Amino acid sequence: MKPTILSFETSCDETAVAVVRGTEALANVLSSQVDLHARFGGVVPEVAARAHVESIRSLTHRALSQAGVHPDDLDGVAATAGPGLVGALLVGHSFAKATAWARQLPFVGIDHMEGHLMAPRIQFEEFTPPAVALLASGGHSQIVHVEDWGEYETMGQTIDDAAGEAFDKLARFMGLGFPGGPAIDEASEGGDPAAVEFPRAVPERPYDFSFSGLKTSVVTYIGQARESGDLPSLADMAASVQEAIVDVLVDKTFNAVDATDAPVVAGGGGVLANRRLRHRFAEEADKRGITLALPDPILCTDNAAMIGVAGAHWLSKGRLTDWKETVDPSRTL
Ligand code: KG4
Ligand code: ZN
Repeated sequence: MKPTILSFETSCDETAVAVVRGTEALANVLSSQVDLHARFGGVVPEVAARAHVESIRSLTHRALSQAGVHPDDLDGVAATAGPGLVGALLVGHSFAKATAWARQLPFVGIDHMEGHLMAPRIQFEEFTPPAVALLASGGHSQIVHVEDWGEYETMGQTIDDAAGEAFDKLARFMGLGFPGGPAIDEASEGGDPAAVEFPRAVPERPYDFSFSGLKTSVVTYIGQARESGDLPSLADMAASVQEAIVDVLVDKTFNAVDATDAPVVAGGGGVLANRRLRHRFAEEADKRGITLALPDPILCTDNAAMIGVAGAHWLSKGRLTDWKETVDPSRTL
């Protein structure tokens, strides 16, 4: 049986609700708070939590009606339990638990990063373990060896900034606004990725990342170039900064693919929406003749369908969440 799940994702600045049947997204709606936070140059936790409260009820009605599913037809409810902003998480998690309790449905709390990891299943049926996945978002960057669903070995992770955070901070230095990833992606159009050779950090552990040195070198470079009056074009700068981040993500992920002999490489998290990264992933997967499970950008950035797929998976395995459990902002896979 493929369970029909109502799912919620409110870990950061998107209020997202979905209705999922097995791995099929029947409805996947969200209300983005980007405009609310843009003037602060980043996500303000209290503002995010309040905005979730304001929109979660109407989004739930919209998701159910778009899916053509009556609440009586639901088999369970799922919500992100962490990691994320505590106030933001609590809104979706409490709303989901209350809905489940009132309707006497089982409730499943889901790890946000496991949601990103399961998102490719919506589009790629052939995505089954074993696999290697790159999960890269605003708060996390990690390479995961998926031995089985629920059996995740983090082979490496960032030792300082997450990849998305690096994009966001670098975009700010370059005057490109927030969120920085999509801004750099767009600004890099037509730019030369080899215009400026920024350093690629090599942390001690082979699959770890480090992006703080890149930040320092970009700031130093911009300062010096401004003084000498030969600042490259914005497109060249954006393309070069992007290449420095993408190079490291691609190299390390595919080193992990080679080391584990994984037949599938997958990706999830907002950074995987990056066009240059997607292109390089496709090239490397093609070279090795392995399956690439990289969903459309809309399923890489935060959404509730990914939480629903994970919820349906664990519900059908009978792994439910105790009513007493609450959110954990620093939860790890
Ligand atoms: O997974 P996500 O939507 O939210 C978190 O869980 O953090 O990821 C958001 C991050 C932000 O840092 C954003 O700048 C980055 O993903 N991002 C991108 C792109 N789209 C979103 N980074 C690079 N290129 C993009 N096209
Ligand atoms: Zn995310």
